Amino acid sequence: MEIKRDDLIATLGGEQAVARMDSETKADALEDFLSTELDKVLLSTDPHFPTVAEVEQKIPTRHFRMGVGNLFVATAPGAKVKILPPMPDKPTLYDFFALRFAPANHVLQSAALALKNGMSEEIILACLLHDTAQALLKADHGYWAAQMYTPYVSEKTAFAIKYHQALRFFADPAYGYEYPDLYRRLFGEDYVPLPHIRADYEMLKNHPWYEAPRLVTVNDYYSFDPKAKVSIDPFREIIGRHFKQPKEGLGNDNSPVAHMWRTIARPDMPL
Ligand SMILES: [Fe+2]
Ligand SMILES: [Fe+2]
Repeated sequence: MEIKRDDLIATLGGEQAVARMDSETKADALEDFLSTELDKVLLSTDPHFPTVAEVEQKIPTRHFRMGVGNLFVATAPGAKVKILPPMPDKPTLYDFFALRFAPANHVLQSAALALKNGMSEEIILACLLHDTAQALLKADHGYWAAQMYTPYVSEKTAFAIKYHQALRFFADPAYGYEYPDLYRRLFGEDYVPLPHIRADYEMLKNHPWYEAPRLVTVNDYYSFDPKAKVSIDPFREIIGRHFKQPKEGLGNDNSPVAHMWRTIARPDMPL
């Protein structure tokens, strides 16, 4: 695999940002880059779509399950998980983005696309948050994420986050949304979505809020662009207006989802 120095430096925030990093941070950053690059290679160069049976045959070749959260396993060959920086006493959404969801490239690029496409603030926020539960787990991540965010965002934003997962399996030419090749690779070309996904799709087709999750799928940014400059800064005002940050900190507010935030904050707890 060829690594372009300029691409790597751009991904890390440019020459100045790299100059400020100590060698351990640089090594970690390189590992992250390689992991993402590896994913890109795996997902984009093989012209063959596997069958569901072929996808299943790969399960016992791995030391992890595909649904595991990003924080809990280093998937690159030979990689190890790292010591995570501690969280502040009263963590905010920004702290989770910086210290647990990072680099969060995909969601930041999706939100930037939604902003550029003139989406409403509720939808931009949904795009920003839609895949962040993948830190915790990837399986059914839309449903987990919606639950995690329900106490802190509007009903429509949570709805959009929850159901983007179901709508991704169904094309909608009216919105220019096609079934993604990525899903043919990940699930198998003959994959049939699970009953709860099909049932939710049937419900959504006639729902007055159908458009909300559909717009998340439309702005779901799948092309990895190593030169893209991503930052949460363009979304600070939207977060300020639409995200109800608990004053005790996420995980400390005794809400029904506080344990989910605590698990993301301390994924090394053995029990
Ligand atoms: Fe997603
Ligand atoms: Fe996504």
